[in-house]
Amino acid sequence: MVNVNGRITDEREAVVPVFDHGFLYGEGVYETLRTYNGRPFLLDRHLRRLRTSAGMIALRVPLTDDEFDARIATTAEAAAGRFGAADWYIRILLTRGVGDLGYDPAACPAPSVVVIVRPFEPPPPEAYDEGVTVALVSVMRNHPGALNPLIKSNNLLNNVLAMQEAVTRGAFEGVMRNHRGELAECTTANIFIVRKQVVMTPPLDAGLLAGITREFLFEVAAEEGIAARDAILTDTDLFEADEAFLTSTTRELVPIVRVDDEVIGDGKPGPVTRALLAAFRARARALTED
Ligand code: PDD
Repeated sequence: MVNVNGRITDEREAVVPVFDHGFLYGEGVYETLRTYNGRPFLLDRHLRRLRTSAGMIALRVPLTDDEFDARIATTAEAAAGRFGAADWYIRILLTRGVGDLGYDPAACPAPSVVVIVRPFEPPPPEAYDEGVTVALVSVMRNHPGALNPLIKSNNLLNNVLAMQEAVTRGAFEGVMRNHRGELAECTTANIFIVRKQVVMTPPLDAGLLAGITREFLFEVAAEEGIAARDAILTDTDLFEADEAFLTSTTRELVPIVRVDDEVIGDGKPGPVTRALLAAFRARARALTED
């Protein structure tokens, strides 16, 4: 079900005007959330990031957190009336809104808010049990000075082009490097390696999205007594890692066991990755219980 500026319809009737600058120029930001126990997980953090992203493109956020919460709840209620899902995928989109042609934001008096709610579909169990192959792609992550990856932007061409390359190579995800050649992130996820029991992920100034799962994982690792920190990482660090995994809201932690033709560690999901995944899930469920 889709909520467009307060009007809820099914997906076939959900439309936005052609003159919305989100459509014309890709001017918009978004968030992807999921529920556990039927409740949005870390909604406050997602809304905070939505406001940060909006601020970075000088876009006004027309709703309070409570109003976003209510809009998600009414859309989820409508979806529950149609589908018998236990958990939901939720996408919030905020665009510049409708206005005349031209890049001056003053042309658009009112931003548009869209909320999509659909049954949550996790990755297949094999992805967790066996791990996945990723491709180290040639498409470079956007230079932060051109289009900062900290903005969770509806402008996804950079990610789309990288994923096209990964798909062509039969990979589950594509790993992108930054303009300095360091590892940045995957096309829709952050990347982590484990080396000598230490969990490492590229720092934000490598040019990547500040993943909510990434941030939450640092907290989970601290609780589990597992060392985790950010570190500049290169291709070699990935190839020589004992373990690797990717993180995102919709995929939690997915073990990476192969990078193109190179096997990572012993080619199976490693003990640190499995421990973190179990702890992550337990904590996510606990935080969304009654
Ligand atoms: N993707 N990096 C990029 C480029 C992303 O698009 C995402 C999320 C992440 C992980 O962020 P988080 O842990 O907050 O989900 C990192 C979402 C799932 C999406 O595009 O739908």
